[in-house]
Amino acid sequence: MSLFDAFRFDGKRALVVGGASGMGAAAAELLLDAGAEVVVMDRAAVTLPGVQPVHVDLAERGSVDAALEEAGGPFDALLCCAGVADGTPGIERINFVAHRYLVDRLLDRDALPRGSAIGMISSAAGLGWEANLEQLTELLETTDWDAAVDWFQRHGKADYMSTKQAMCAYVARQAHPLMKRGIRINAICPGPTDTPLAQANKDLWLTFAADYRADVGTEPSTPIEQACALVFLCSPAAAAISGQTLISDQGYLAAGLTGAFPDATPVAQFMFGRLG
Ligand SMILES: NC(=O)c1ccc[n+]([C@@H]2O[C@H](COP(=O)([O-])OP(=O)(O)OC[C@H]3O[C@@H](n4cnc5c(N)ncnc54)[C@H](O)[C@@H]3O)[C@@H](O)[C@H]2O)c1
Repeated sequence: MSLFDAFRFDGKRALVVGGASGMGAAAAELLLDAGAEVVVMDRAAVTLPGVQPVHVDLAERGSVDAALEEAGGPFDALLCCAGVADGTPGIERINFVAHRYLVDRLLDRDALPRGSAIGMISSAAGLGWEANLEQLTELLETTDWDAAVDWFQRHGKADYMSTKQAMCAYVARQAHPLMKRGIRINAICPGPTDTPLAQANKDLWLTFAADYRADVGTEPSTPIEQACALVFLCSPAAAAISGQTLISDQGYLAAGLTGAFPDATPVAQFMFGRLG
């Protein structure tokens, strides 16, 4: 035993939802390296050796129920990584409703024991949640799958930014009830990261903050760099941390908010919902 074992996952079971590619796949690989037994749920084929693959389509409640049956439990770490871009049918289910449903069903089954942790991948696009908390609270109190889908559609919010704001608000609000059960919940809010999803939307996603990266001499983050932050948040080493939406963007939005990099200031104010 060493103090650094708090960063490891020996003897622990982890469920990575959306772990076939990108940051989720990097997280699954890292968890294996850290000693965990790993179950990967995805709609796409899972190619990483050494994990238990489970097929799921997060847009379909029945598919999520079947995947949960197959995956079993309990899990010491649940990583909610799957997400899609604007224009994808079912975005409100894939990016938010299904992840919350998974958490709720695992809680119903006592499949998230005391000491377990939930780590979600939100986005810098979700950081404006505080300015919209009153409206988002309606959604957070609407826990039924169909009613939540209806909420997104009725409010014209079945889009990337709104689903990520919902996820950030959910993480912040659930910290208290989950901590009563000994469970932590956090998210990372990545900046541009070189994954298949970002490449498919590269004109928008990978040009974002390009001026800042040129100024500081960096490239878009790699999937494993984001996975390291997410896996840390789910490890016992992060025992004091819950309810946080950690911005993993190489300092871009902080530089904008403080005026250290003035070109980012309007973007940062917009992203944090501080304009107007
Ligand atoms: N790449 C970026 O720049 C960036 C920035 C901020 C946030 N994000 C978020 O990071 C997360 C991971 O994305 P990524 O960039 O690694 O992309 P990715 O496409 O490589 O990974 C997303 C995974 O979700 C899975 N998925 C999509 N729809 C699904 C469905 N209906 N059912 C089950 N699985 C499904 C995909 O098959 C894929 O394995 C997403 O939530 C995304 O919104 C990405």
